[in-house]
Amino acid sequence: MKTLLEMSGVSVSFDGFKAINNLSFRIGEPELRAIIGPNGAGKTTFMDIITGKTRPDSGTVVYGEKSISLLKMSESEIATVGVGRKFQKPTVFEAQTVRENLAMALKNKRGPFDVLLYRKTQAGARRIGELAETIGLTDALPRIAGELSHGQKQWLEIGMLLAQDPRLLLVDEPAAGMTPAEREHTTDLLKRAAQKHAVVVVEHDMEFIRRLDCRVTVLCEGSVLAEGSLDHVTSNPEVIEVYLGR
Ligand SMILES: Nc1ncnc2c1ncn2[C@@H]1O[C@H](COP(=O)(O)OP(=O)(O)O)[C@@H](O)[C@H]1O
Ligand SMILES: [Mg+2]
Repeated sequence: MKTLLEMSGVSVSFDGFKAINNLSFRIGEPELRAIIGPNGAGKTTFMDIITGKTRPDSGTVVYGEKSISLLKMSESEIATVGVGRKFQKPTVFEAQTVRENLAMALKNKRGPFDVLLYRKTQAGARRIGELAETIGLTDALPRIAGELSHGQKQWLEIGMLLAQDPRLLLVDEPAAGMTPAEREHTTDLLKRAAQKHAVVVVEHDMEFIRRLDCRVTVLCEGSVLAEGSLDHVTSNPEVIEVYLGR
């Protein structure tokens, strides 16, 4: 598996408090990675650094086969090279149907020749069908997005991100506010997405993490405390002490 993103020795302070402390991290393509850790460990800040929202005080973040530095790029440039981010609150177009939401996301797809490709309605329709299948909303395609459940809106938003064909998808706490059945569906969806893309998921729910069945990185005080299979990291005494023991 080739490396898609590599972060080395990254530190960030907010008013003298080190939120990220000499953090190193790499993810391959494709790969599914879960990130766990106590509140305030720096998980969201870690994503903010990748997307260019927060600039580190030191360290490097390189991306893609040409190892371009994301630290020199604006947030929109970083999105253009294929980094997509899912925020906690779904931001779908409530008055439009699921199909229209996906179609709009496809139209805005990054890349120079995609506009030509998706203007041909047949290719576009096929892609909408594939996306709907990936997110499990095939039957909901004609429905108004505003009428979907919270979980369904989250899936639609993931579908809209996938429509942009990201290489790296960052998802922060997707299970929050979801029913157990919705959580299960969400793990399936993320696993499907991670067959083609690099997907990083921050989540507290350990059942959710277990179902993802992937490599886990434990963050604590802005650094990697442990990394490996869920069983490996959860048997680490330090991890038990700072996180699971609480
Ligand atoms: N923009 C900011 N300004 C000041 N402090 C921040 C900012 N963003 C995060 N922090 C602090 O950095 C630490 C890490 O926060 P965060 O990355 O949100 O942790 P997590 O997502 O793991 O709960 C926390 O102590 C938080 O209060
Ligand atoms: Mg957070």
